[in-house]
Amino acid sequence: MKELILNDLFNNNKNALNPDLINSHINDVKQMMLIHYSGIKEVETKLDILNQEFQIQEQRNPIEYVKSRVKSLESITQKLRRRNLPISTKSAVENLHDIAGVRVICSFVDDIYHVAEMLKKQDDITVIEEKDYIKNPKKNGYRSYHLVVEVPVFFSACMRMVKVEVQIRTIAMDFWASLEHKLFYRKDDLDHSSEEVYKKLLKCAQVISQTDLEMQEIRNMVSEIE
Ligand code: GTP
Ligand code: MG
Repeated sequence: MKELILNDLFNNNKNALNPDLINSHINDVKQMMLIHYSGIKEVETKLDILNQEFQIQEQRNPIEYVKSRVKSLESITQKLRRRNLPISTKSAVENLHDIAGVRVICSFVDDIYHVAEMLKKQDDITVIEEKDYIKNPKKNGYRSYHLVVEVPVFFSACMRMVKVEVQIRTIAMDFWASLEHKLFYRKDDLDHSSEEVYKKLLKCAQVISQTDLEMQEIRNMVSEIE
């Protein structure tokens, strides 16, 4: 019965369940959301401290801004369904690593690696997964540095390790990814529909990547002059 809950809650199929069970399931969902919201807060605090420390040492911020979100119940349910996994909070917590998502937008490419290293070496952070789509861009041109980390979160009666997906990218990479996402992401039918569209998109990613490299070079020249 419990396995069906996200489906039932989401489809408003509440008649199938008795009220006590519904309340218990709603509590499960609230707990899952709270735990991941808290994981986001922990990671955001770490990033804020690193940014402020860097500001004191280098007189500039490597992080432009941070965008975070807890994945919606709808997206969680859809993703589990897409992967043919059980539709339950237990299954979501075990199988999905992006319920908590933090996107870090950096000024320069080197800042991405600096921020990632600083985060990774913290004692209470466990790196679960690391993907460098900057050194190894996706076929469509997508660039970004992905980390899945686990952080401890303390509640009144227990400590929980929470997985948080951290995507670190430059403003330019975010510009491309945001527009590409709007146009194509998960629209498999559109994705490869036109070779010309695909080529144009890749070209934009390459131009942007080249600009990022040149901005980094300028940054290095300026810091030498300073
Ligand atoms: P998901 O099932 O989407 O989580 O993919 P995954 O588990 O294989 O991980 P991956 O690192 O490839 O992607 C994780 C996230 O990165 C996605 O949910 C997107 O937010 C982002 N991402 C990955 N590839 C692309 C892409 O081609 N375009 C855009 N715009 N975003 C991407
Ligand atoms: Mg994802």
